[in-house]
Parts: sequence; C-alpha cells; structure tokens
Amino acid sequence: MHGAMGDGAIAILIGAKLVTRSADTEFPFRQDSDFWYLTGYAHPNAVAVLRTDGGPAYTLYVEPRDPARETWTGHRPGTEGAVAKYGADEAHERERFLRDLPELVAAARRIFHVLGRSVEIDRCITESIENLRLRSRQGVEPPEAIVDPRSIVHEMRLIKTAAELELMRRGAAISAEAHAAAAALAHPGRSEYELEAALEYTFRRRGASGPAYTTIVGGAHNAAVLHYIKNDCALASDSLVLIDAGCEFEGYASDVTRTYPVGGRFTGARRDVYEIVLAAQLAALDACRPGNTLPQIHDAAVKQLVEGLIALDVLSGDADELIKNERHRPYYMHGTSHWLGLDTHDAGSYRKDGAPRVLEPGTVFTVEPGLYFGEAVEDIDERLRGIGVRIEDNVVITADGHENLNSAIPKLPDDVEALVSQR
Ligand code: GLY
Ligand code: MN
Ligand code: MN
Repeated sequence: MHGAMGDGAIAILIGAKLVTRSADTEFPFRQDSDFWYLTGYAHPNAVAVLRTDGGPAYTLYVEPRDPARETWTGHRPGTEGAVAKYGADEAHERERFLRDLPELVAAARRIFHVLGRSVEIDRCITESIENLRLRSRQGVEPPEAIVDPRSIVHEMRLIKTAAELELMRRGAAISAEAHAAAAALAHPGRSEYELEAALEYTFRRRGASGPAYTTIVGGAHNAAVLHYIKNDCALASDSLVLIDAGCEFEGYASDVTRTYPVGGRFTGARRDVYEIVLAAQLAALDACRPGNTLPQIHDAAVKQLVEGLIALDVLSGDADELIKNERHRPYYMHGTSHWLGLDTHDAGSYRKDGAPRVLEPGTVFTVEPGLYFGEAVEDIDERLRGIGVRIEDNVVITADGHENLNSAIPKLPDDVEALVSQR
C-alpha cells in the first residue's frame, strides 16, 4: 500500500463498527474487508493511519483495554496488543484520533480517505484543510488532494496471493462437505430449512465463521427466484432444489451453486434444462484462461444456453440473431461471473483502459450460468414452468488456464444423482 501512495501522503482507513440488530443486541462483528485485508485487525471501531510523509508508517487507533467491558464482550488487544500482535509502529486510543487528525492533515501533501463514511472525520479533514489554506500567506501548504484509497486497495485485492488462495481452497473444501450434507437431505417431505441447517452446521463445525452470504435453498419454483432466502417450504417429489451456499473462511467467501433432483433422479424437462445449463457452464469454464475476458466467458455460456433454448422450443430462429437481440434475457437475466474474495461480489474494477479487463493469473471469479422459468415468465410450455437451474463454481486464473476450486462438488448428472441418493 505504502509504495502505491507516493511520498508525502497519509491514508486513513476506517474499520467497521458494531451494527444494531434489534434494541440492544448487535449482529456479530464483521470487519470491513479493506481494513481486514490491510491490517488483519478484527475488533470494532479501529482506525489505521498509513504514512509516507516521514511520520510513523503504520498507526492503529483502537478501543483500549477495559476489564469491565471485556467481562461482557471478551478480550480486546488494546494499544499494547495493536503494536505487539498487529505490527503497528504506534497505537493510540481511538478517542484520540480526531484530536490528532488536524496535525496529520497539516503534514500531508495528499490524503487517501473514503469520503462519506464518517461525517465527523470528513468534517475534521475539510475544516483542517480550510484552516491551512487561510494560513497560506504564512507559507503553509494545505494537502492538494483527497484521493479514494480503494483505487489502490481494490487493485491489490483483485490479484490473490498464494496465501489467500490457500485460504480460499480451505473454504472451498468446507463448502464441498456442506453441499454433500445438504444433497443427502434432498428428498420429498424435507424442508428447505433442513438443508440450510445442514449447510450451516457444516460451515461452523469445520471452522468457517458461517455463510458468506445468506444461504439460498429453493425447491421447485423457488429455484427460479434468484435471491430466494426464506427457505421455508417443503421439498416435493419430481422437483429440483437449487442450493446457492458457500462459507466464509478467514474472511474469504466461497460462492457455490448446485441444483439437485429431489429424490435423486433428474427426469423429464428438468433433466433437459439441467444438461443445457451444464453444457453452458462447461463451455464457460473452457474459456477461463489468461488473456480472455469475463465478457468472453459470458458469451461462451450464452451461446450454449441459446442453443439449448432453441432445442427446448422456447426460442426459434438463428442463434446469433437471438443473442444479438438478447432474447435469452427472460430466462437468463444475470451475468455469468463476478470477482470473488473477501467480499462475495469482490472488489476490483471490471474494466481497464476503457475495455473489459484481461484476466491475469491470481484473479478469482465465479462461473454461474443458469436458466429460470419462473412463475412470471410468459408464454412458456407448462412442462418448463417453475424450473430453475444454476451451476456455479469458483475459479482461479493460473499461468496456463484455471484451477476450479469446486471440482470436488459433483455436477455431472450421474454424480449428482449418486450424491443425493447417499444415505
Ligand atoms: N450467491 C450470490 C451470487 O451468486 O452472486
Ligand atoms: Mn452464488
Ligand atoms: Mn455468485
């Protein structure tokens, strides 16, 4: 980070606070992803200051030790721990930060800071700059720019290190075990929430902090609701259940979707749709290599989906023409890929120099085509109505292709049937 800031700069990074759930209870603490990436500090209300202006390179402002509070909410590293365990050059109590800020502003030529996160910090910075400007006749030079640090941090986050990839592999292994546990419950009469419970039990049992996003378990027509999270219906025979679930491990998300046949057999139109989505996913995976772009991967998926929609008699005509006119959109309305990392929809720009970004080794993203024939879809053959299928894997671009982090989770029809049928 320091290298990219240039000389004479400070960066102010604001950690997450606790968020109220209801009345006086709070959601479990989740550190801001950028803050976690740069500091590894996972306690509320911290501020990190990075400096290339000759001051200490790394200062943490943290909540101090407090035996009375710690009796209720557990250990705090305090200022001593911030230095000893987190590598800060200096650490101070958090309440001192606003008092130190005008001096930090006065010393800097450039300030890296995300505006809009904290009214009091924003006000202090802008007032300090104005005060410096009023003293310009005395030769005082105010900072020349407030720059968004995410332009630097998100570029760093986009290319995963070997250590990050190892954590993502471990998360993927837990997600694989969780999918197997849930698939074994995909039988008529079971409830969607039982499968959700099996997934999340496995996440926690294996040391993940929990799901990386709200688990989706959608049976029958619920599978066609993209962000279905109620998970409270019973599974019916002759239906599919779509599970989009991945754990968060050491802050890193896995994001995996499989679609299972309730009872263990893909039959009728459900098998046809499944095979089309699988062909699209395999074609998209085939395009995952350095030098390609996410739009190329999307196009590979869409081509297979449209050919499948023609075979199903949902669309008719020339495939290229249908694609040009986006005639697949009523049945495939989302993108094929997003970056994956500390956030499920991870940081990093999708375009560079005015064009889709060329994939480089170390980028991690999802490949998740689907087809959805939901309740609202018009003019559809009744045999397709209510079917939703998505298959989602997480891939890392390597020097000569890609590594599929979820290759342990079955997706070929025979293998999926066997997974559901295991008891
Ligand atoms: N689970 C969210 C997504 O697939 O993007
Ligand atoms: Mn997903
Ligand atoms: Mn996804």
